[in-house]
Amino acid sequence: MMNETISNILSRRSIRSYTEKRIEREKLDLIVKCGLFSPTGMGVQPWHFTVVDNRGMLDKISAINKREFFANNNDSARMSNVTEEYDNFRGAPCAIIISGMNDKKYAEVDCANAATIMSVAAHSLGIGSCYIASFRPAFATAEGEKLKKELGIPDDYKPFFALALGYIKEQPSERALRREGTVNYIESGT
Ligand SMILES: Cc1cc2nc3c(=O)[nH]c(=O)nc-3n(C[C@H](O)[C@H](O)[C@H](O)COP(=O)(O)O)c2cc1C
Repeated sequence: MMNETISNILSRRSIRSYTEKRIEREKLDLIVKCGLFSPTGMGVQPWHFTVVDNRGMLDKISAINKREFFANNNDSARMSNVTEEYDNFRGAPCAIIISGMNDKKYAEVDCANAATIMSVAAHSLGIGSCYIASFRPAFATAEGEKLKKELGIPDDYKPFFALALGYIKEQPSERALRREGTVNYIESGT
């Protein structure tokens, strides 16, 4: 019963160590295309994708987040292991920011679907990824609106998730066992 799609879903991991090698444009285009074909509530497609193939811009977002963490929230910085070296995008050379329309009921879920689908698509192309939500506080700062403009995110959209992308430098350690008791079946005829 194993096939390439199922194998890719089962072997995808969150990658937090990347080489500096740029991802080829045709691969990025294909990954984004897969995101655009994710399911959306009522078929609304309430999203905007910003491909940030620019480490300088990712550094800028990460630096604002770190400043916010240390200025307002030292305890949670400690709890999240945020240090001066911490990078929201885990050292990836590229990230796709997925923003959702403000007034659409399922926008956040739809953006989450796209992030997941793109992570599997990237994996199938030999590219590592990490699903990221921790970059969000930067957009709640005074600089947030300016940052959105620089990134070309439309006014009435909110950045929900990012997918860090790059070629893998180090594979992650063993993955966690799956929690037990999280599945049941209701079958007919029993
Ligand atoms: C909604 C969501 C937000 C996440 N945010 C982050 C994040 O900000 N930083 C990070 O390193 N990983 C983040 N992750 C990745 C998870 O930590 C990872 O999926 C989980 O530990 C399971 O590991 P695996 O993806 O290798 O199976 C996020 C995952 C999801 C689904």
